[in-house]
Amino acid sequence: MVKGVIFDLDGVIVSTDDCHYLAWKRMADEEGIPFDRAVNERLRGVSRMDSLNIILEKANAAYTDAQKEALATRKNAYYVELIGRLTPSDILPGTLEVLRELRKRNVKIAIGSSSRNTPVILRQIGLESAFDAVADGNQISRSKPDPEVFVLAARLLAIAPVDCLVVEDADAGVEAALAGGMKALGVGSAAQNPRATYRAQSLADVDLNTLLR
Ligand code: G6P
Ligand code: MG
Repeated sequence: MVKGVIFDLDGVIVSTDDCHYLAWKRMADEEGIPFDRAVNERLRGVSRMDSLNIILEKANAAYTDAQKEALATRKNAYYVELIGRLTPSDILPGTLEVLRELRKRNVKIAIGSSSRNTPVILRQIGLESAFDAVADGNQISRSKPDPEVFVLAARLLAIAPVDCLVVEDADAGVEAALAGGMKALGVGSAAQNPRATYRAQSLADVDLNTLLR
């Protein structure tokens, strides 16, 4: 029986893909580093610094750690500017209905996100007090596919990993859930992931009776 559902944030509850893309693109253009949507796809669920390292694979120059910090900080400033425009209307289809139904069934709900901007995003979309627990990039040291963020979320919920279901749009997130001993529902970009326990296009297409078994 599933007693807790842990939601990834970006790409599951709200689509911030474009904000990440535009912010990285602005920074990469300024630095003369080739960056496109295909590279952006590889950044899903990956931490900020790991994302930068992927982008720098195409850079001609070598960057010191201090320079990398500065690039990541600059990208984040552009990103924060963009997510400042998010509103509750950006919540992805099906999300609010699923959250409401889980509450009704006394299933605990948490966020498990690599993003250090999680508190800002939750505030922007009006869900800052909707969850029983929030585990995010500010509290962890290893990013997905390491299970750290989901294990922390389960611990905060006081629910055993085996009784948790993770909802993820990133393949790295599906792996993280499985590595943590949890079930995984793949949505969006992970909707075809054969490793996921369950698959759906979005939260608007799920059957909770099946998922919570
Ligand atoms: C999420 C996104 C990633 C992003 C990461 C860190 O997992 O899917 O694309 O790199 O969060 O986000 P942050 O807001 O901390 O830069
Ligand atoms: Mg995601």
